[in-house]
Amino acid sequence: MHLVRETMDETTLEKLKAAFAGESQANRKYLAFSRKAEREGFENVALLFRAVAEAETVHALNHFKLFGLGNTEDNLKSAMKGEHYEVKSMYPSFLEQAKEAGEKGAIRTFTYAVEAEKIHEKMYEDAIKNVEDGKDISIPGGKIAVCTICGHTVFGTPPDVCPVCNASKKAFQIFQGK
Ligand SMILES: [Fe+2]
Ligand SMILES: [Fe+2]
Repeated sequence: MHLVRETMDETTLEKLKAAFAGESQANRKYLAFSRKAEREGFENVALLFRAVAEAETVHALNHFKLFGLGNTEDNLKSAMKGEHYEVKSMYPSFLEQAKEAGEKGAIRTFTYAVEAEKIHEKMYEDAIKNVEDGKDISIPGGKIAVCTICGHTVFGTPPDVCPVCNASKKAFQIFQGK
């Protein structure tokens, strides 16, 4: 990894990682709180949560860049490693436990996640091959579609029905490149 600094005080590094994790979680939590506030009719509370969520992102990214940011090839490898861990180790064990406990909601969300992570891992793996040769990846129509119900991710136009959660095409959010 080509980190910003090769060496850092170990305790400080642990604190930065912990702060990054906490701020990242606060960001997603506040966004969920914001959506809920909106549904409950508290528009300005929703706005407050959205704005503070963004501030937490600023903090998270400020912490992260001191220890976790490499060049794009490094970052793709780091991203692939994370997805690989989730696919091969984390979610299988989490799923097994949730099944034993009969926790249907957790079984569903873990399944949604692991199915998407398999695809993410493959996408990153393919991207690494390009970037190693100094090439950007090619994406059909410059479109990436993400299912807003389960996170299933596809290059190009979305399928009529999500193969993971059966949501309709309408549930896909399109990310359009330049
Ligand atoms: Fe993923
Ligand atoms: Fe889906």
